[in-house]
Amino acid sequence: MSGHVIIAFETKSGVTGESADIIVDVLRRKYGLNVDVVNLKENPRPDLAQYKSIFIGSGIRMGRWYRKSKKLLNADFEGKNLVVFVSACSAGDPKTHDEAVGKYLNDMLAKYPRAKPLATAALDGRMKMFGKAQAETCDPDKVRAWAEEVGAKLTK
Ligand SMILES: Cc1cc2nc3c(=O)[nH]c(=O)nc-3n(C[C@H](O)[C@H](O)[C@H](O)COP(=O)(O)O)c2cc1C
Repeated sequence: MSGHVIIAFETKSGVTGESADIIVDVLRRKYGLNVDVVNLKENPRPDLAQYKSIFIGSGIRMGRWYRKSKKLLNADFEGKNLVVFVSACSAGDPKTHDEAVGKYLNDMLAKYPRAKPLATAALDGRMKMFGKAQAETCDPDKVRAWAEEVGAKLTK
């Protein structure tokens, strides 16, 4: 189990999956970690027991987490490193970033007392309407920088 990492994510518009890809790349290449990536649409109930570090990622729509990723917050994280990230358009705007952290991370996690993350991030989102990007704030470098910080925590 030592060092074994899972990144379990749920996405509807693709951004949380793109962030998962960046995170896995950093953890594997920079930190040499053994990482599995699970798209919850394909495998909604991954066996978390075998992992030392668990990343849960969700997009946000209508102020809510996606259902399958939310369910994972009920797991037993005793003795494990939990890392949580969300993708939301409001998180990408400096004017509303802190509000997004409050609503989609702090308020949400307060409902799951067993979920005490080592690290969290409210990452940018993308919004398309009629095929055109309405809000495109995603910055892969920000995700990479955060993944590097988390990788350092996991391996120290
Ligand atoms: C129907 C709908 C509702 C949304 N509601 C919110 C919201 O309440 N707050 C927010 O910050 N972003 C909202 N967004 C933007 C999403 O957070 C953004 O599309 C993000 O990329 C979703 O993650 P995903 O790409 O992994 O699915 C919404 C987008 C859609 C399409």
